[in-house]
Amino acid sequence: MSTGTLERIAPPAYAQVDEEREVSLKQEIRSLASERQAIILAHNYQLPEVQDVADFVGDSLGLALEAQRDPRQTIVFCGVHFMAESAKILNPGKRVLLPSLAAGCSLSDSITADSLEDWKQRYPGRAVVTYVNSSAEVKAQSDICCTSANAVSVIRSLSQRKILFTPDRNLGRWVARQVPEKDIVIYDGCCPTHDVLRGSDVGAGKRERPDAVVIAHPECREDVLALADEICSTTGMHAAVARHPEAKTFLIATEWGLVHQLKKRFPDKTFIVADGCIGCRLHCPYMKMNDLEAVLRCVREDRFEIRVDPAVASRARIALERMMAVPRDR
Ligand code: 13P
Repeated sequence: MSTGTLERIAPPAYAQVDEEREVSLKQEIRSLASERQAIILAHNYQLPEVQDVADFVGDSLGLALEAQRDPRQTIVFCGVHFMAESAKILNPGKRVLLPSLAAGCSLSDSITADSLEDWKQRYPGRAVVTYVNSSAEVKAQSDICCTSANAVSVIRSLSQRKILFTPDRNLGRWVARQVPEKDIVIYDGCCPTHDVLRGSDVGAGKRERPDAVVIAHPECREDVLALADEICSTTGMHAAVARHPEAKTFLIATEWGLVHQLKKRFPDKTFIVADGCIGCRLHCPYMKMNDLEAVLRCVREDRFEIRVDPAVASRARIALERMMAVPRDR
């Protein structure tokens, strides 16, 4: 467990620019975005400087809702591919741009349309609930999607008792514990960024800072979640911190980018990011592909535009829209 705040932890390997260049990149991005009437959306795990140029920073659900709500016709999506793809599916008439096509997701790649088909044949007659960290093709074969912010409510909203949950096994197991009345078969995928964290790491952090409140993302393993005081989506972590006004220190069991917004909103608190292994805080390399240079190229040159096969998109849209009608868990 790191004992420092965000600044005191060694930065991971990604292109960093000097301060002067950062200021000019940010100015250029903001002025081009307003000239082109583009909205910049950023996920909570994006690089801090990318979050700073965004119009809106949020979790997967918040970003999908904002992409629908905002009238601007161009969306610069600073997140990973499946998030930009969901925005395109929900807004077929808008132009959705992803600054780096290398911004993938291992969890999303852990399930394909073929492997889902195989699981559906193995477990016939079950309602298929698919986490949004999945491709359009997989969503198209699902009954409803969910995010970490609404997974429990989504499952409760279904009339079926028998469910096939894909692809994240840690989120699936956590949800299954919240809804014991449902019979849930869980696919075997995981997010390596979260799955690397062990209960023993969090336990060591707790021994160092016994007063700390532990907040974990439900993509963490069961032994980590067992030690958490709060389990929630990335944006849900803001409300979780607010629920502990007396606490000074928080151990955050999720990707380190999340702490940037928390520190802005709660400057008097200390946030310690969990270590996945020997002194290395949880880090998603894909989320960090959209650096400021890539965002500038994106707004300046309209690249990279996300396209989804219309037949796949129209089926995936049903699963996403069903999810959007369900409220957040809390
Ligand atoms: P949130 O929906 O909680 O932001 O999580 C997205 C994600 O990809 C976590 O790894």
